[in-house]
Amino acid sequence: MSFLSALFYDKCMKATEDACLIDWRKDLLKGVDGKVLEIGAGTGASLDLYPSKSSLEIYLSEPDENMRSQLEEKVKDKKLDNVSILSCASENIESEDNFYDYVFVSLVCCSVNDIEASLIEIKRVLKQDGSFIFLEHVAAENGSSRRKWQNRLNVLWRKLAGNCHLNRETEQHIKNAGFTITEIKHESMRKAMSLVRPTIRGIAKLS
Ligand SMILES: C[S@@+](CC[C@H](N)C(=O)[O-])C[C@H]1O[C@@H](n2cnc3c(N)ncnc32)[C@H](O)[C@@H]1O
Repeated sequence: MSFLSALFYDKCMKATEDACLIDWRKDLLKGVDGKVLEIGAGTGASLDLYPSKSSLEIYLSEPDENMRSQLEEKVKDKKLDNVSILSCASENIESEDNFYDYVFVSLVCCSVNDIEASLIEIKRVLKQDGSFIFLEHVAAENGSSRRKWQNRLNVLWRKLAGNCHLNRETEQHIKNAGFTITEIKHESMRKAMSLVRPTIRGIAKLS
């Protein structure tokens, strides 16, 4: 992510956050406890939405230094002592095996270089009874006109938007990695550009 994209990221996302993302994040995170890893935490859009529980240990990973510096500032300003920041990417998570109770991603699977390797890493670091929580924008239905435009514009979009893939079939990738999806909602991301409106959010377990 370029310095400028990172600088204006929160402003660009504000309308969408207010329209739906804040509520979706809150709902997904309301039950988390123990050790939670948020991958690609960005500027910390979910930071205020974690439950306040003394038993919660939050680890935020963000490989992009322009995004991470904003995240570090927010964590420092809020004096959060149960939050640690990591710089690792999803393809190579700095963690022992079976460590986390929850792994959370929001709007990240679209941007990672290697989605299969990332999901293998998430499986590795999750405890056997852990939960993988996801909130992602995804490919539109095959054959739809939105999907055709996602396919046409994908290469250009990736260059402009920090490697974000418009047409990634994230639900299928999660299943192919061997997760069992126990909850999923498909919903349009309000106040977002048409090409990134289809979303999935839910919970997957290790099968
Ligand atoms: C669209 S932003 C979303 C940020 C944040 N999760 C949110 O919901 O606002 C995508 C984030 O994924 C991060 N990212 C990209 N590739 C990644 C990877 N391989 N591993 C971890 N994070 C990655 C980017 O640096 C960026 O912060």
